[in-house]
Amino acid sequence: MLVIEDLTRQYGDRRAVDGVSLRIEPGSFVGVIGRSGAGKSTLLRLINRLADPSSGRILHDGREVTALKGRHLREWRTRCAMIFQQFNLVGRLDVMTNVLMGRLSHVPSHRALLRLWSDEDRAMALAALESFDMGEFAGQRADGLSGGQQQRVAIARALVQEPQILLADEPVASLDPRNTRLVMDALAEVNRRYGITVLCNLHSLDLARAYCDRLVGLAAGRVVFEGGPFDLTEDVARRLYGLEAGEVLDDSAEREAEQRAALPGLPGIVPARPVREAALGA
Ligand SMILES: Nc1ncnc2c1ncn2[C@@H]1O[C@H](COP(=O)(O)OP(=O)(O)O)[C@@H](O)[C@H]1O
Ligand SMILES: [Mg+2]
Repeated sequence: MLVIEDLTRQYGDRRAVDGVSLRIEPGSFVGVIGRSGAGKSTLLRLINRLADPSSGRILHDGREVTALKGRHLREWRTRCAMIFQQFNLVGRLDVMTNVLMGRLSHVPSHRALLRLWSDEDRAMALAALESFDMGEFAGQRADGLSGGQQQRVAIARALVQEPQILLADEPVASLDPRNTRLVMDALAEVNRRYGITVLCNLHSLDLARAYCDRLVGLAAGRVVFEGGPFDLTEDVARRLYGLEAGEVLDDSAEREAEQRAALPGLPGIVPARPVREAALGA
């Protein structure tokens, strides 16, 4: 179980993540939704310890992730792999070598430096590629692949890290609909077949509904929605995103936000103040 307790990350006088508390069940596929600037990337970076919290803590199976240092921190980063919108492959290297990079933390460094991968590592890398229909590309340069293919290679690289958690930061944001589906299917495979917990930032509510079994809505760094895919009603979506149209913060937008604040809360929604903050802050 991944437990996030009152986590805050401050940049200057702005809170990118603001008092977030979550419990993430092992083996779940969690979608993090919310408009641009809501704090989705910061939340994932905090979990992976690419960023450190200003306050609050993260626990994994009772261990305090936010206190880890040195070797233990490196082990944690191996245990929670991360993929990004821009794939982050080494373009001039072949696909197989890119995937083998995911084994680096598992092999002695002198062997890694000489790129003396064991047969077992190679077999594992090829199997990972094959499970996403990418086996035939193993010998090709990574930069020759389409975006959707590169993202599936990145997922294979993450998989051979043998992580317990996969953090995916808008992994399909730059892909066309067909590749979006292939990449989301690959994440679903990682989740179901290998039992790896997936935490995925998504912009599309349709994808969030289709693929995730739990959803967390962020606005201005705060959790404003938590529920299953069927709890994400049009009304909730409007609360999460509806104010986007009213970016120009004139009086009417502010009045509307106040009226929203007076509405009774929906199940799973914290009172409307964060939504109002989203309107005024983000
Ligand atoms: N390294 C940083 N330095 C300063 N501000 C940051 C940094 N990272 C994020 N922020 C700010 O924190 C807020 C949340 O950003 P982010 O987590 O990237 O949101 P999202 O991924 O939902 O678009 C934004 O206002 C952003 O400008
Ligand atoms: Mg982001």
